Amino acid sequence: MSVEELKTELEKVLDKALRSIKEIKNYEDLEKARVQFLGKKSQLNSLMKSLSTLDGKNKADFGKIVNQAKNSLNSSLEEKKKSLKSKANKKIDNFDVTMPSRQISIGSLHPITKIMNYSIDIFQALKFECVEGPEVEDDFHNFTALNIPESHPARAMHDTFYLEDGNLLRTHTSSVQIRAMREKEIPIRIIAPGKVYRKDSDITHTPMFHQIEGLYIDKDVSFSNLKSIINIFLKSFFEEEDLKIRFRPSYFPFTEPSAEVDIEYFNNKGEKSWLEILGCGMVHPNVLEMANINSSIYSGYAFGLGVERLAMLKLGISDLRLFYENDLRFLEQFKRVKL
Ligand code: PHE
Repeated sequence: MSVEELKTELEKVLDKALRSIKEIKNYEDLEKARVQFLGKKSQLNSLMKSLSTLDGKNKADFGKIVNQAKNSLNSSLEEKKKSLKSKANKKIDNFDVTMPSRQISIGSLHPITKIMNYSIDIFQALKFECVEGPEVEDDFHNFTALNIPESHPARAMHDTFYLEDGNLLRTHTSSVQIRAMREKEIPIRIIAPGKVYRKDSDITHTPMFHQIEGLYIDKDVSFSNLKSIINIFLKSFFEEEDLKIRFRPSYFPFTEPSAEVDIEYFNNKGEKSWLEILGCGMVHPNVLEMANINSSIYSGYAFGLGVERLAMLKLGISDLRLFYENDLRFLEQFKRVKL
């Protein structure tokens, strides 16, 4: 081909390429066009190869034109790329970036759950195994096996919710003591956290609340073992070495001797006061026998902690009912409380 022919051919090729680049609507086609018009197999490339057939001035002339054509293809592709990009951004541009974003509210564990988990961790470090029992319980596990026979006045104390089938909602986690003693091998060293139910409602009582039961059965378990574990737990829970703890003689049908434990705290008026937080004692021989444990060989201690009471003291809350009203303004205060 003569140089004139080559020039005409080049013009045609360029014109066609530029026109088809204009039509491109996506990145994929853009990439295809780059290969088609500028790649090794492109018409432009074969025209460039024809350079070698030309001589002197023609070669220089045509070389210049081919390069210009190449540049203009390149910049046309580049422009197309920019316009595709700005189209994609247009959609985003419709957003008002100054508009406040929608609030995502992130949930958190309920303060009672946090207190429960925190307490369980402490007991597990003290080598207590964590077990659970049913909330719908039978009379035997909740009362009879705990040395509370049918006619016992202690049954009235419990304000029990009875179900139509004769079962009941457990009034304490002590029912799990019986299950553990009947199922496990001695030594038994368990805690049993969970919900309990009583017909009760005022600022220090809710119809459902939480307890953590503790039970240790082995040879030679003594009251001083009990006292020591309670002291260790409470001081560790409140992170206070000189916490004032008071063991007060008490009565439970399933322990003998029995005690209630109070903690000194400052009430709303800033006065020193005591709050009862747990009941405990040495497991009554009748209870051991009813669970098929020989009370002349083995002894044990048990305790039942009131989790809400612990939470009130730890988190500084004076009305227990706040825990169960599900008012987010209340609950959110504990979101960041790490225990
Ligand atoms: N079950 C008793 C209560 O609910 C607490 C308790 C547990 C007392 C274990 C002694 C031993 O009040």
